This record gives sequence, structure tokens and C-alpha cells, in this order.
Amino acid sequence: MANDKRETVTAERNSVSPATDAPVIEIRDLHKSYGQLEVLKGVDLKAPRGNVISLIGSSGSGKSTLLRCCNLLEDSQQGEILFEGEAVHWRGTGLNRHPADKAQVLRIRTNLSMVFQQFNLWSHMTILQNVMEAPLTVMKRDPAEVEEKARHYLAKVGIADKADAWPAMLSGGQQQRAAIARALCMEPRALLFDEPTSALDPELEQEVVKVIKALAEEGRTMIIVTHDMKMAADVSDHVVFLHKGKIEEEGPPDQLFGNPQTERLRGFLSATMA
Ligand SMILES: Nc1ncnc2c1ncn2[C@@H]1O[C@H](COP(=O)(O)OP(=O)(O)O)[C@@H](O)[C@H]1O
Ligand SMILES: [Mg+2]
Repeated sequence: MANDKRETVTAERNSVSPATDAPVIEIRDLHKSYGQLEVLKGVDLKAPRGNVISLIGSSGSGKSTLLRCCNLLEDSQQGEILFEGEAVHWRGTGLNRHPADKAQVLRIRTNLSMVFQQFNLWSHMTILQNVMEAPLTVMKRDPAEVEEKARHYLAKVGIADKADAWPAMLSGGQQQRAAIARALCMEPRALLFDEPTSALDPELEQEVVKVIKALAEEGRTMIIVTHDMKMAADVSDHVVFLHKGKIEEEGPPDQLFGNPQTERLRGFLSATMA
């Protein structure tokens, strides 16, 4: 079963571009401030191909900011961001540092699809239209081919029958699965999730967790910001604990959850698991 799935993903990926051994995304010594407030204080992060990285930490520790820096939704002032070994080109320094190459930004952003806590589906578009929108308008792909892919990914997340429904007709869990299908339809090199289950009732949460687990089993590269420690323990290859803009502790899930080394992580876990 797992092997079959891996073949499917490989076929999907190969249609995008050739493989490279460099991590899909790598962050080196990243610093990010909002005005006077330094939110990321020298963070290193690596997502090797096929790995699932979970980012955990208290509210306000900088998880969302780090994720948004990865796909250049946020500027950063210092440090490097590499996509498949290719360093982001910058112009300017400090608070005036911005990506220099628009085509590079578009390439990176379309290859690191994001799934948000609040789904962010367009309410005036059907589910199918939502899933097809970016590949059509941003990537200018062939409509018939995009529709076929969109239906394929909707089936994959278990809502093929909702293609013609409006977002408001779906449960939160179904909407989030539609948002995952939308991200997959970009055929990105990695998926970035920002608290994908936090807006959901517990019983709906599990249907989204199931989809994320299936994607992990397929060997997809993912960075997941989550408060769901059980999911993080189940799906991750590597877990990163962020505290006040710095990595306080990181390692394989068994170690981080089973044998935390720092007082801060122990405190965080006992508060979260309580
Ligand atoms: N657009 C923004 N402008 C100013 N401060 C922000 C902005 N976004 C986030 N912050 C601040 O940055 C810090 C980290 O926020 P965030 O990355 O959202 O943390 P987390 O996702 O871990 O809860 C917080 O102190 C937050 O208030
Ligand atoms: Mg956040």
C-alpha cells in the first residue's frame, strides 16, 4: 500500500521538475522583526525531501512567522533562505531587505503551498473552482488538465462528491480537506500547514489528521505548525520547539516527546498535554 502510494507521488513530482538532493527548504540564521519587535532571533530549519517537520511552541513564539518567511509571505532582515539549494536573492539590508527577483519568489511560493487554520476558501467559488483557481490563473495551466487533477485531489482527500458545492455548505473538516486539495493541485515540492486543525471541533479534527497522515505516508515533504502533539508525534521525522523566536530544542519525535531535555520543553509539554 505504502509503496503504491510512493509511486503515485513520484509520478506526480516528476511531472513538475527533476529531483535534487538539496533540502526542499532550508533556513539559516534567520532574523525577523516587526518594527522594534524581534520575532525570530537566528533560526535554522531544514526540510529534506520526503520529511515531515513539526513546529511546536507557545502562542507568540514565532511559528507562523517562520512558516510565512519560508515561502516569502514575510520579509526577513538577516539570514538565508534556500529553496532546493537555490538561495533567495535579496536587495537592501535590514528592514529594507526584500526579495530581489519576482520570478524567483513566484517559483518558490507556488512550490511551497500553504494550508491555513481558517481554510481561506473563496466563498463565491465552488469547491472545484477553488481547487482549480491558482493552477489556472497563477500557473496558466491547461484547464482540462487542471480539472482532472483537481477532481483527483478532491477524491484523494475524500470529498469528490463536493466538487460543485459552495464552501459554506461544507463542514469545517470538509473545507479544510478542500483547502488541502487546493494546495496539492499546485503540485508543490512541499506543503506548509499553519495549525490546520485548530479551528475544528475535535470530531472533525480527526478527518483532517487522517489526510495529513496519509500525505506523510506518501513521502510528501511537509512543515506543520501544530498544537496537536499526538499528530506531531505520529507523523514527524523531526520536531522543532520554538521559544520566543529561538529554537529551544529539536530532534526526533521519540526524543522530544519521550525524553525532553530542557525545562522549557518539559513545561510546555506538561501544560499542553494536561
Ligand atoms: N503582522 C504583525 N505585526 C506585528 N507583530 C506581529 C505580526 N505578526 C505577528 N506578530 C508578533 O510576532 C510574534 C510571533 O507571532 P506568530 O509568529 O504569529 O507566533 P505563533 O504563530 O507562534 O503564535 C508575536 O509577538 C506576535 O504578536
Ligand atoms: Mg501562529
